[in-house]
Amino acid sequence: VASNIRMSYNVLAVGAGKQMTDHRLRDLKLVLGDAVLAVVDIDLDRAEALARRFSVPRAFNSQSAARDALEREGLSVHGAMIVVGNEAHFQAGMEAMSYGWDVFGEKPIASDWCKAQELVRYGAEREINFTIGYPYPYDRAVVWVRDEIKSGDLGRIQRVKLRFARQNGIPAPHFWNNPDTGGVALDFAGHPIAAVLPLLPGNPEMVVDAHRWSDHGRLLHGGSFAAEDTMEATVRFSDGARLSLDVSWADFSPAEEEFAIEFGCERGWVGVECAALNTRARQPIVNKWACSPGGQLESRCGPPPSGYEEMTLAHTQNWVNVGRGLESTLGFTAADALEAERIVHAVRAAARTGDRVKVYEAAG
Ligand SMILES: NC(=O)c1ccc[n+]([C@@H]2O[C@H](COP(=O)([O-])OP(=O)(O)OC[C@H]3O[C@@H](n4cnc5c(N)ncnc54)[C@H](O)[C@@H]3O)[C@@H](O)[C@H]2O)c1
Repeated sequence: VASNIRMSYNVLAVGAGKQMTDHRLRDLKLVLGDAVLAVVDIDLDRAEALARRFSVPRAFNSQSAARDALEREGLSVHGAMIVVGNEAHFQAGMEAMSYGWDVFGEKPIASDWCKAQELVRYGAEREINFTIGYPYPYDRAVVWVRDEIKSGDLGRIQRVKLRFARQNGIPAPHFWNNPDTGGVALDFAGHPIAAVLPLLPGNPEMVVDAHRWSDHGRLLHGGSFAAEDTMEATVRFSDGARLSLDVSWADFSPAEEEFAIEFGCERGWVGVECAALNTRARQPIVNKWACSPGGQLESRCGPPPSGYEEMTLAHTQNWVNVGRGLESTLGFTAADALEAERIVHAVRAAARTGDRVKVYEAAG
């Protein structure tokens, strides 16, 4: 509706660390230009340096200082892109939303499941345009796979296989040895789950099996290697579909990164499998659709996967357009992220205990 369109959409870039520097602020500037009003970081020197680098005119050491100063200038803020460490997602997200600002938050929603629920509930109550930085739903090959499933040609989904792996050294070992990161499952598993979950008609019921395998990490880094370097799990859905998950750091792989999703359906399968080699540019390994009507196998290729920069830019553009009232969400709100992370938290609980875990009991 035309009357709901916002002509201006002013945002703050909150957090001036690696991810903001390498990706997010570039995207914000491309989409919004001078409407990026300020950089905020509790480390003011860092905020100032990043602001200078991207020609953002102001830097502050807190969101409240930014709000007060901008108000004095007669400027309104409409949204905050929050790219701070996991431990600060909750507090920084709550603060921005308490001012009525839209939020683009980094993943995971929060390092703690209860706080993640609280943050998403708070945003929903205030009808805030709130998304979480899972970029893979914006990958054009993933979108193509989803369209093939939605067309209905392949019939009911029976199983979904997800794999996401990174070579030893990505991320650096100090990151995975830090208990605050939540290990590979919390850092990583939400990505492929987020890409497929909105398509699954059933509810996740039970983690049938979940294992952490630290073998690779111990071999490479010695007995002190304690993090969840590799996680495998199977999740059963209420309609009988199964989701299998294989996420790894310290993976024995020639590729820097591998990302794969595959749907096995009544009448065939569809999937994308891609890898990043040396440059982190994503290339397809397998990207095709096949089905067997009457026993005949047909196949055709989908588009190549997007580069990381294309995905993050498309996501930022969509968040801004939703906030301005120009388009609806391309299917990845904070509420969707919460459903993906619900599975992640149940998988982690199952791996800890070695028992089967009911998803809604472990992560209600
Ligand atoms: N979506 C993705 O693909 C992806 C990729 C990499 C990292 N990430 C996420 O991005 C986030 C940031 O990671 P990073 O590597 O840039 O971390 P980082 O440690 O390099 O930067 C974090 C910055 O946040 C600042 N900060 C902390 N608390 C703050 C607060 N309350 N207000 C303002 N600033 C605050 C710190 O001073 C620091 O400069 C993490 O949550 C990480 O999981 C996402």
